[in-house]
Amino acid sequence: MDQAETAEQEADEAIVTESSLREATGDVCAARRARLMQRIGATSAALFAANPERNRSNDTDFAYRPNSDLWYLTGFEEPQAVMLLLPGHEEHPFVLFLRERDMKFEIWDGPRVGVERAREMVGADKAFPITELDEQLPKLLAGRTDLHYALGLNPGMDASVIAAYRKAQRTARGRAPAPMAIKEPRDALHEMRLIKSPEEIEALREACRVSAEGHVRGMRMTKPGMTEFELQAEIEYHFQRHGARSPGYPSIVGTGANACVLHYIDNRDTLEDGQLVLVDAGAEVDWYTGDITRTWPVSGTFSGHQRMIYDLVLRAQMEAISIIRPGLDYTEIHKTTVEVITQGLIDMGILEGPMEKAIEEKTFKKFFMHGTGHWLGIDVHDVGAYALDGKKGRPLEAGMVFTIEPGIYFHPEEEASPAEYVGIGVRIEDDILVTEDGCEVLTAGVPKEPEEIEAIVGTDA
Ligand code: GLY
Ligand code: MN
Ligand code: MN
Repeated sequence: MDQAETAEQEADEAIVTESSLREATGDVCAARRARLMQRIGATSAALFAANPERNRSNDTDFAYRPNSDLWYLTGFEEPQAVMLLLPGHEEHPFVLFLRERDMKFEIWDGPRVGVERAREMVGADKAFPITELDEQLPKLLAGRTDLHYALGLNPGMDASVIAAYRKAQRTARGRAPAPMAIKEPRDALHEMRLIKSPEEIEALREACRVSAEGHVRGMRMTKPGMTEFELQAEIEYHFQRHGARSPGYPSIVGTGANACVLHYIDNRDTLEDGQLVLVDAGAEVDWYTGDITRTWPVSGTFSGHQRMIYDLVLRAQMEAISIIRPGLDYTEIHKTTVEVITQGLIDMGILEGPMEKAIEEKTFKKFFMHGTGHWLGIDVHDVGAYALDGKKGRPLEAGMVFTIEPGIYFHPEEEASPAEYVGIGVRIEDDILVTEDGCEVLTAGVPKEPEEIEAIVGTDA
């Protein structure tokens, strides 16, 4: 263990829980900032920038979505903002650059916090207009030994940060400390985001509840002859009516063989009697998203072949869920779904056995070609390392949230797809919270047992 690791471990040990810090500060985001500053150490700095606004067409932008890291640490949702954390600074450990108030713009785009109200409304110890970033940043970085900043995501911000970093060094001329490295904030911040606090678990519970209800509505409204986009609209209608500003990712509504296109978002086809429809959709509520996939028969009844594949995917998913508990290595989840699916496909005569050989030669990947899940939170593919200490996996801990989403797909252009299964695509995805003694399925509100699905599909069509 080197010196930096020791220091980080000591800082971690000194850390009280997020809730005790919150008691001290009275504010969730202030507690997160305090904890992050402890983790990076008293001589570092950390900078997080707002997402750039993105053009959609001509002079019209996409709806603005805050940067997840910046929002987690501030709750601030405006574009054109930069947060600089200076741990241990006696006067201003939290510096915020933001837009100035300006009625000309506020009439068109809504209110701005502005520099004068940044302390009261965002908790900043010091605030500057964003237009002063290039002038102030080199001065603020003086005396710091390194800077935590994610390079390569925002070229405009990269240029400002690199210029300030270089200027701080030039000014110090080796006589005073200046940042000598730009470090990824990933280890310090994203490990914090990986373990969800009680407030975050409540937010995810709500996003998952709304997501599940949207799927149930979709199942009830399904009937042959409707289009994929109509079904999408029924589901997203529920999301939006219950507070989602947007789905957490583009909804996938794939009928028939469209289900075999993993990121199918065209959603223009018509649902036909006898097909399965695969829906992968999640509501983003208060910036936390659900992520659910269900696959159901358009007419309300699975065919024999559809049911065989559905049952196998469901068994793989349920078996993976059954092993979740703190301490389990993350890689065991995928290992479980791969084993169940591979053996099932061998038993059905679709793959050649034995299972160990099919797994070693990866023949199962013709039909199950993606991973079994991902962390879930403010980002649908949330942050946090999947492996620690150069090993392949990491032990699960209470407060982690992730998806379990095995699937089997018989793409029409995959030569190994047996004729009787061609065009069948099934995925089942739930969102799982690791608890102290096992796990909780946050998306249990949407049925997945085939009989339950058959009982509700089309009941409101
Ligand atoms: N909906 C994206 C995913 O399941 O990963
Ligand atoms: Mn997912
Ligand atoms: Mn999904």
